[in-house]
Amino acid sequence: MSQKVDLYDSAYGNYVSDTYRHVRIETYGEDFGQTSWVTTEESNEIPQLLDLRPDSFVLEVGFGSGGYALHLAEKVGCRLVGLDINPLGVRNANQLALARGLGSMARFEQCDASKNLPFDDDSFDAVFSNDVLCHLPGRPEVLAEMFRILKPGGRMLFSDALIVGGLLSNEEIATRSSIGFYVYSPPGENERLLERAGFRRIRVTDTTESASRVAKQWHDAREKRKEELVAAEGDINFEGLQRFLSCVHTLTGEKRLLRYLYFAIKES
Ligand SMILES: C[S@@+](CC[C@H](N)C(=O)[O-])C[C@H]1O[C@@H](n2cnc3c(N)ncnc32)[C@H](O)[C@@H]1O
Repeated sequence: MSQKVDLYDSAYGNYVSDTYRHVRIETYGEDFGQTSWVTTEESNEIPQLLDLRPDSFVLEVGFGSGGYALHLAEKVGCRLVGLDINPLGVRNANQLALARGLGSMARFEQCDASKNLPFDDDSFDAVFSNDVLCHLPGRPEVLAEMFRILKPGGRMLFSDALIVGGLLSNEEIATRSSIGFYVYSPPGENERLLERAGFRRIRVTDTTESASRVAKQWHDAREKRKEELVAAEGDINFEGLQRFLSCVHTLTGEKRLLRYLYFAIKES
């Protein structure tokens, strides 16, 4: 069994370090503080897909470092609330918001998003979640909550990199799961659950190849800075994360795990 490996505490706790910043730039091209498989192209498409406007009120579930949410607040001018369970991520996001003068537009709260969401019905114009739902138990309830807090006509988008596309060994599953709790799903299950939650006009995009590429770039960017990262994370964690990233690269490269992007609407 693979040992538990920390990804998020070190990424958010060391967010401002040059080493971590250079790793993000080399992995994604543009630094939105990502800790996911979202490419810069996908990041740039999200505002159009969700039809975000300056008067939109947006929820990001699992905002990570907060960098992308703040980019949206700046670029679109929309108001935004973010939820994440990681306290270092919440601290980082609120510090960034303050430093960029965006405190009145973006608010970040610590919250376990697998529980009922702390918002009234019909509150948001859009909700999105990049590579987070796979970490949450109870997906039918999570999707039902996302549906509930959206206004009629509201748009939702999430990605899932844990769709089983082929044969996986217990060791591969253990390495792929070494950074935390994960739910793997068969193809078609997210579509069925979205429909059951009430969503309509569901569209699915296969982004498996770009996820494999991001995992390789992330692995290689870290390998180049091994000395600094070992000093920050410890050698056991450094090696564990490198194994995790290699595993993602291989499994998505061979399409044994797939990453899909789901878009859906709460019809009015
Ligand atoms: C793969 S990262 C994605 C972060 C960000 N969306 C991005 O694209 O960089 C997954 C995020 O989910 C958060 N997370 C995990 N379990 C959670 C939970 N139960 N409730 C809220 N957030 C959770 C983690 O703290 C982490 O920030």
